[in-house]
Amino acid sequence: RGKHGKAARGLRFDAVAPNTADRVTIPSGHDQNVVIRWGEPILRGAPRFDENNQTAAAQAGQFGYNNDFLSLLPLGGGHGHGHGYRHGHHEPGRQVLVANHEYTDEVLMFRGYDPDNPTREQAEIAWAAHGLSVVVVEESRRDGSLTPVARHELNRRITATTEFRVTGPAAGSELLKTSADPSGTKVFGTLNNCAGGTTPWGTILSGEENVDQYFANGEKVTDPEHAARLKRYGISGGATERKWERFDQRFDVTQEPYEPHRFGWVVELDPYDPHSTPRKHTALGRFKHEAAQPRLTHDGRPVVYMGDDEKFDYFYKFVASKRMRHGSSRSDREHNLALLDHGTLYVAKLTGDSPAEEIDGSGTLPNDGEFDGSGVWIPLATGDESHVEGMTAEEVYVFTRLAGDKVGATKMDRPEDVEPSPRTGKVYVALTNNDGRGTEGKAPADEANPRNGNKHGQILELTERHNDPLSEKFAWRLFLVAGDPEDPATYFAGFPKDKVSPISCPDNVAFDPHGNLWISTDGNALGSHDGLFGVATRGEREGELKQFLTVPTGAETCGPLVQDRRVLVAVQHPGEVDGASVEKPASQWPDGSGRIVRPSVVAVWRKDGRDIGV
Ligand code: FEO
Ligand code: CA
Ligand code: CA
Ligand code: CA
Repeated sequence: RGKHGKAARGLRFDAVAPNTADRVTIPSGHDQNVVIRWGEPILRGAPRFDENNQTAAAQAGQFGYNNDFLSLLPLGGGHGHGHGYRHGHHEPGRQVLVANHEYTDEVLMFRGYDPDNPTREQAEIAWAAHGLSVVVVEESRRDGSLTPVARHELNRRITATTEFRVTGPAAGSELLKTSADPSGTKVFGTLNNCAGGTTPWGTILSGEENVDQYFANGEKVTDPEHAARLKRYGISGGATERKWERFDQRFDVTQEPYEPHRFGWVVELDPYDPHSTPRKHTALGRFKHEAAQPRLTHDGRPVVYMGDDEKFDYFYKFVASKRMRHGSSRSDREHNLALLDHGTLYVAKLTGDSPAEEIDGSGTLPNDGEFDGSGVWIPLATGDESHVEGMTAEEVYVFTRLAGDKVGATKMDRPEDVEPSPRTGKVYVALTNNDGRGTEGKAPADEANPRNGNKHGQILELTERHNDPLSEKFAWRLFLVAGDPEDPATYFAGFPKDKVSPISCPDNVAFDPHGNLWISTDGNALGSHDGLFGVATRGEREGELKQFLTVPTGAETCGPLVQDRRVLVAVQHPGEVDGASVEKPASQWPDGSGRIVRPSVVAVWRKDGRDIGV
């Protein structure tokens, strides 16, 4: 069969057309359910959600706001995870769902919210609505739906006030000390948890992303070095939008100058131990962490690829120095939880192979027919040793962006989620967009970021030399240059463009069991809603991109997970439209007219019970 025949295995469904429907639109022959909504009680003692009687105590036991990253882990009977979950028995048909709760949108949460005068209770509800949820979910015997198992002993909420342990080479640094924590090793809370990853040792990683928005009064900092460091991390204004600094002085940098240094890390949570203290791993550097999906080297060491989601920021990898253990004893578990504390942090520098004059910023392919080239991983620090002139190792970890600046790393178009293909080892990096590319005083287009004023983004495919994640050299090419396929400045791995779905602003990426790449979008600039897409990364259908679903008004599609029989997405910030509020909602999802809009997790399956896309 030729290029116009049957789609790749795993992608055989009727593509959903671009649309602006206020619902989750799925392919024909499929069905869906809302797995869990913001506010549903998951812990013992938590009350049912009451939009008109929200309290911080209730929210601390309920599913948080704005679900982003999702992970599903086996509950007993799983294999390959060595998780040592000893508390219960094998629970057939159940899995452990972990969700990030990136941020709160108070005007969509509280009736009559006054942005100039938030109440302490509202701030405390928002603290409790941030963080992560661990909730056991149960599969239906009848169809593909999932439902939460409230009060399961593994269920847990991590919030903006949960105790974390700081680990790795910068733990205890002067740069991390505050009046509440003179040790520099104990942080209360995690913030802006965007995407993440699931480790081969059965834990989850979560990226603290846009943490600048929580810290007030950067503009009042007088020490020039401290002010410059804060500014490089986006902290240079006055009052914050949520005004938490009125209720806790740690959010005011004139009161607690180093508190911002304690956010912007990759955190690790052991969902199988509800009493464990989650960790912040300093060895992975501090920046706007989008995600962190580890893979193992041939000798069993984890390697983590990481994007810093900011226009003109960098792409990183961390190579651990110790091997994962496969046992499930307590000491094996402890060993694995410390794997990301020892190793080398690198930043990427990419070089195109086409003459610079052929990269004119329009997105027109150069004469060799591809945006491609080579790259090097520049080491920044190994343990206590800095590889960056003029910076100590602690400074490299805490001010990683400044280290990237010094070594001349490549300024990318918002590096977001990254996923290594479990089949081929190639690494896929979503570069969401960058409308500043090529503007006054900013970096112009280069071969890896080939469009000035880039509205739609691209996906970069990186191949480590000899396909070895330990390598310090790699090759790369742009796999997708997103946009309307009728726009000549788009590229779908060479697949005929009359056969693909339009796509804009790739954000999260995941692989299905067949080796296809799935891409969710945030900020579609083509006029239709965000959605989820699948694309083959090899074989004769390579580049045939197909849309699987679209999300409601104002929403972003997050956390895609593609299992054999089920697709899971997090519908984040539905109804988030300028001027919208609880009183004037822009969306009626998921519960219809007159009901408050609630970010929720959705499962999709085939009505005939067969695997997705086969
Ligand atoms: Fe929270 Fe870069 O998305
Ligand atoms: Ca080229
Ligand atoms: Ca994201
Ligand atoms: Ca991912």
